[in-house]
Order: sequence, then structure tokens, then C-alpha cells
Amino acid sequence: MTLQQALYQSHEYARKVVRNGDTVVDATCGNGHDTLFLAGLVGNTGKVYAFDIQKEALGNTRKMLMDGGMVKRCILIPDGHENMHRYISEPVKLVMFNLGYRPGGDHSICTTGETTLRAIHAALDLLVVNGLIILVIYHGGDTGFEERDYLLSKLPELDPKAAAVMMTRFINLPNNPPILVCIEKLK
Ligand SMILES: C[S@@+](CC[C@H](N)C(=O)[O-])C[C@H]1O[C@@H](n2cnc3c(N)ncnc32)[C@H](O)[C@@H]1O
Repeated sequence: MTLQQALYQSHEYARKVVRNGDTVVDATCGNGHDTLFLAGLVGNTGKVYAFDIQKEALGNTRKMLMDGGMVKRCILIPDGHENMHRYISEPVKLVMFNLGYRPGGDHSICTTGETTLRAIHAALDLLVVNGLIILVIYHGGDTGFEERDYLLSKLPELDPKAAAVMMTRFINLPNNPPILVCIEKLK
């Protein structure tokens, strides 16, 4: 199949936007795959702030970064992404959210619509103009439906002069494939 899933597309958008030396945020570091990917994009002069509320997630992410030789350019923060403004005071190029629960972890510890929306607003304040927020929304199995419905009801309310919001989703494939939402800051 040539059409690609949301996670693949999220990385394609990040590749287009992020340059060497940029500062970016992984809002949900989980097991560290996206943090490592972003650390590769920003290069050794850039910076990745990575958030998670689970100690185990930060431990797994640190290990992945150590193994990849990229730990020095990353700041791991054991707090919710809705508090990102407390830790970051510099312009940010991209904020990535990979929503849901940590693969291999407790499904009940997962992102929620209201805190994610608060984090999106915090991210919009930190982003440079034309910076990007990328959300991969997982819905299926035992979780994710409420958060999906909440976000898809609230995001269309964002001021179109301030941000452009785009959604990409498969509309006929089985098993609830994840949904990609990109938000570009316009002013
Ligand atoms: C789907 S996983 C992320 C996967 C990760 N990007 C990776 O590459 O492995 C979602 C993560 O969000 C975390 N999470 C849930 N609520 C959060 C919050 N308010 N702030 C930051 N992280 C949160 C969970 O603990 C979980 O590890």
C-alpha cells in the first residue's frame, strides 16, 4: 500500500519542518522512539524536551537515547505536557504528541482530551510562526475514543487566523487506524 499510516506521516511532516539546531518537544515520550527520531533531526546543536508522567517511560527513553548516543541533546521531564510552559522559555519549531497508552505498559495510564487540549494551547504559545504541532490519535481496543471525540470537537474551534488545523484519516480501513492531526501556527 502506498498510502501511509498516521505515525509514518507524522515523521514525514517532522522531517520537512525540523532543521539542525532547532528546539522541539516530544510531548509523550513513552518508550522513546519519537524522542530518538526527533533528536536525530535536531542534530548535535539542537534540543529536544521530552515529557512523560510515567517513571518507566522516562527510564526507557533515557536508555534508548544513551544507546543512540543522543542523550546530551535531550531534556527529559517527569511531568505532564500540559505544564510544558513551566519548563520551556525558548521558541519551539515542532511539538509531537503520540497519544494513548505506552506500548507494553498500563493501559489505564493514558493521555486525556482535556489535558491534551491544554498542552496544545501551551504549545501554540511556544511555537514559532509556521511551527507545527503533530498529533497521532490512537482510538481502538479499550481506550482512546473519548479523547478522539473530545479533540475532534474542540480543535475546529481554534481561531483560523491563528492556526490551521488539518486531519488525515483512513475512512474505510478496519481496526480504527490512528488519525493524524497537524496544527500549523499562523501568527
Ligand atoms: C502512545 S505513548 C507514547 C509513545 C512514544 N512516543 C514512543 O515513541 O514510544 C503515550 C504516552 O503518553 C504518556 N502520557 C499520558 N498522559 C500524559 C501527560 N499528561 N503528559 C505527558 N505524557 C503523558 C503516557 O504515560 C505514555 O507513555
